[in-house]
Amino acid sequence: MLLDATSRVQNPALRQRLMSAREAAELIPAGANVGMSGFTGAGYPKLIPQALAARISAENAAGRPFRIGLWTGASTAPELDGALARVNGVEMRLPYQSDPTSRKLINAGQMEYTDIHLSHVAQYVWFGFLGKLDVAVIEVAGILPDGRLVPSTSVGNNKTWLEQADKIILEVNSLQNPGLEGMHDIYYGTQLPPKRVPIPLVQVGDHIGEPYLHCDLSKVIAVVETHQPDRNSAFAEPDAVSQAIAGHLIEFLQHEVKLGRLGPDLLPLQSGVGNIANAVLAGLDQGPFEHLTAYTEVLQDGMLQMLKSGKLAYASATALSLSPAAAELFEREIAFFRQRIVLRPQEISNHPEVIRRLGLIAMNSMIEADIYGNVNSTHVMGSSIMNGIGGSGDFARNAYMSIFMTPSTAKGGAISCIVPMVSHVDHTEHDVQIIVTEQGLADLRGLSPKERAKLVIEKCAHPDYRPALRDYVRRAAEGAPGLHTPHLLDEAFSWHTRYLREGHM
Ligand code: COA
Repeated sequence: MLLDATSRVQNPALRQRLMSAREAAELIPAGANVGMSGFTGAGYPKLIPQALAARISAENAAGRPFRIGLWTGASTAPELDGALARVNGVEMRLPYQSDPTSRKLINAGQMEYTDIHLSHVAQYVWFGFLGKLDVAVIEVAGILPDGRLVPSTSVGNNKTWLEQADKIILEVNSLQNPGLEGMHDIYYGTQLPPKRVPIPLVQVGDHIGEPYLHCDLSKVIAVVETHQPDRNSAFAEPDAVSQAIAGHLIEFLQHEVKLGRLGPDLLPLQSGVGNIANAVLAGLDQGPFEHLTAYTEVLQDGMLQMLKSGKLAYASATALSLSPAAAELFEREIAFFRQRIVLRPQEISNHPEVIRRLGLIAMNSMIEADIYGNVNSTHVMGSSIMNGIGGSGDFARNAYMSIFMTPSTAKGGAISCIVPMVSHVDHTEHDVQIIVTEQGLADLRGLSPKERAKLVIEKCAHPDYRPALRDYVRRAAEGAPGLHTPHLLDEAFSWHTRYLREGHM
C-alpha cells in the first residue's frame, strides 16, 4: 500500500537506481524510439522530458544532431510535447497530439506525424509495424516492494511500453494521490492472432485484470522522483452554441427512449473532450435520464460532476482530464470516486470488440461534415492537421449510435462546417449516424445519400449557407455523372479553395 508510506519507491533494488532527471535523460540515446506515458494532460512524465529537451538543445548547439521518435498514449502537456517540440527534438510523433508548437512543426513539414486510431497503437507495436521501442519513460504513483507499479492518472499505452521497451525509466510522482491505488484495471490477457480469445468484459465496471502494472526490474535503468501536478486546464463555461447542441441531443435521446429504442438509463456514454462535450454532459446532468454509465476514453469535468450528483453510476476510461477545480474535487473525494471509476489501458477502453458488445452512445466533435455525412475530425482545409483522430474512429464505427457535433460555422461565420465534400475524411458516411449543430440534428440512419443531403442542409447548415448548398445539390442532380451520390467534381472543394483565396467560403 502506498498510503502512509514514507517513500513511494518501496522496492530496494529500484531505490538503488534513483537519480536526477538530468542523469536519466543522459541514458536516452539519439535516434531512440521513446514510449512515454501521458494521455490528455494526465499521467505524463514531468521532469525527464524537460531534461531531455535541455540535452537535445545542447547536443544540437554542439553540432551533434539529436532527435527521437516520440510515442505516447495521446496528447500530453507543455512539459513534454511542448518542451521537446521547442528544441525540434522529435523526428516522428505518434499517435495523437494537440500541442501548438508540434502542430506548427508538423504542418511546416519539420516533424513527421503518424495519426493512428488509439485502439490500434498497442497492437501495431506488438505486430512490429512501428519498429523497435528502445526506451519507456513512465510516470507512476509509486513502486511497491515487489516491484509492481501503481499507475498514475492515465494508463494509455503504459502496459505495452513497459513490455516492449528494451529499457525502462520510471518517474515516481509523489504528488499523485496515493488513493489512486486500486482504481486501475490492467488486463494482461490480450494475445496476437491467431491466439486471441474474447475479452471478458461485459459490464462497464467489470474488473478483468489487476490494479498494478508489471515491470521487468532488470530493464529499469533509472528511477526519478518528482512532485509535480498534472497540467489541468480550465474549461470555458458552455456558450450558447454548445448549449444549443446539447439541447438538440438530449431531446433526440428522449425521443429514442419514447420510441423504445433506448431505455431510461440509455446505454454507456462515450464522450470526446472539449466544451461541446462538457455542455452535453452538463445537460445530461440536469436531464431526465438516471443510472447512466460511461465507457469512454477520457473522464472530464462533466462526468465527474455526474458521478457526484448520482446521475452517473459508474465510469470506465483510460485517463482523467480535469480542470483545476475538478482535480481538487477528485483529490478531496478520491475514496468516493475510486468506487465509481476504473482506468484501463487504451487498447481496452477503446477496443472495438468491447465497444460493439456494450453498445455505446458515442459523441464526438468534428471539424466539418459534408452533405452526405462524411466527417473530417482532423484536418483544416484538407492539408493542415489540427490534433488527430484520437479514439473517435474506434468509437464511431463500433458504437450503437455514432454522433458527431460541431458549431455550424467557424471563424466568425467565414467557414461553413457543412460543406459539399469534406476536405479530408476520417469517418465515412457508413460510420456517421447523427450530425448535430446548434441549428439542429440530422438523424441519417437508414437514409440514402440524396435523402441525407437534404436533411443535413435543412437541419444542420447555417441559414447563411443553406441556399448555396441547396444550389450545389440541385445542379449536381442535373450535371453529375452518376446520381447515387451526385457531386460536381470541379466544384466539390470550391468552398475550401475560396476560403483560402478570399478568406471566406
Ligand atoms: N474549418 C477550419 N477550422 C475549423 C473548422 C473548420 N470547419 N471548425 C473548427 N475550426 C477551428 C476553430 O476555429 C478552432 O480554431 P482556433 O483554435 O484557431 O480558434 C479550432 O478549429 C478548434 O475548434 P473548436 O470549435 O474550438 O473545437 P474543439 O476544441 O471542440 O475541437 C476538434 C474540435 C474536432 C478539433 C477536436 O474535437 C478533435 O481534435 N477531435 C478529434 C479527436 C477526437 O474526436 N477525440 C475524441 C475521441 S475520444
